[in-house]
Amino acid sequence: MQQTIENIRSKALEAIKNALTTDNIEEIRVEFLSRKSELNNIKKNLKDLSNEEKRIIGPLANKVTTEIETQLNEKYQELYQKELNEKLEKEQIDVTLPGSYLPYGKTHLLTQTINEISEIFEGMGFSLVKNENSPEVETEYFNFDMLNIPADHPARDVQDTFYTTVAPNVILRSQTSGAQIHEMLTSKPPIRVIAPGRVYRNESVSARKNNLFHQIEGLLVDKDITFADLKGVMNEFIRIYFGSARPTRFRNSFFPFTEPSAEIDVQCIMCNGKGCRVCSGSGWLEILGAGMVDPNVLRNVGIDPEVYSGFAFGMGVERLAMLKWAVDDIRLFFNNDVRFLKQF
Ligand code: DAH
Repeated sequence: MQQTIENIRSKALEAIKNALTTDNIEEIRVEFLSRKSELNNIKKNLKDLSNEEKRIIGPLANKVTTEIETQLNEKYQELYQKELNEKLEKEQIDVTLPGSYLPYGKTHLLTQTINEISEIFEGMGFSLVKNENSPEVETEYFNFDMLNIPADHPARDVQDTFYTTVAPNVILRSQTSGAQIHEMLTSKPPIRVIAPGRVYRNESVSARKNNLFHQIEGLLVDKDITFADLKGVMNEFIRIYFGSARPTRFRNSFFPFTEPSAEIDVQCIMCNGKGCRVCSGSGWLEILGAGMVDPNVLRNVGIDPEVYSGFAFGMGVERLAMLKWAVDDIRLFFNNDVRFLKQF
């Protein structure tokens, strides 16, 4: 019996010595120390031995068990460290290697421009109109009639306006000015809003014209509003958008929904007024239309023109972006060529 235990001991220690992995150690542990192991069997059957044998075999079996356990644990630690080191070595990260570059998205130049202009006006106390006050699919009533544009006005010509098949008077809006009407019908003065959005015109496409483009409409209605207020707000907008106080010029003009009306020019940003190809030699660039809200329009929406006055303005977003960034073809905004888009 002593010999058997001795044999188990040397077999176990030999196996431990030759173990190569922590998994091996666990196998050896099962083989020599589990409940079904030979050594455990001997301990279980001690009761069948003579008293004298018990006194020798019992302690010996315990001693060998402890020894195997100790050896197993030591070897396990050693192998565990070795495996861990190997793993760390293999999974080492070289932080000096160049990373892999993923293409990243950007905001489209048009959206950037709309956001920038909106923020300028928000800084002056304007807020964005609600979406429902600025629909792209419009009726002639809001796009024209209420804005004092009579049925025989050339702007209503089918040449310019996209009609739909929904109903004879349902169109794609040709200007954002209809948002003025929606706003004035749903809120009371003081009103200070801007309405950016898409507009559609049935024109032939060229470097300067696309039949879809964007405008930003502005409207302010309150007591005692004068042309001087319009001038101040427009000059401040131009100063911030173009980055410095540029000379501006208010040219007499006509829009059916404003009286008086003006077109506002800014000194050519390419040639500083000397005259170049961009400004067709004039030294000036037209950037927006504006004016005092026509009393007829105020009456149309139930606002008393004897009590209230206001101004409105409208600008082309593509045009403003083209002037600021020297973009020479409006179609570049819509082709979505990344070589163009990623420059901004
Ligand atoms: N809606 C005009 C256009 O599309 C632009 C415009 C001019 C808007 C004068 C205005 C304004 O609000 O007062 O040409």
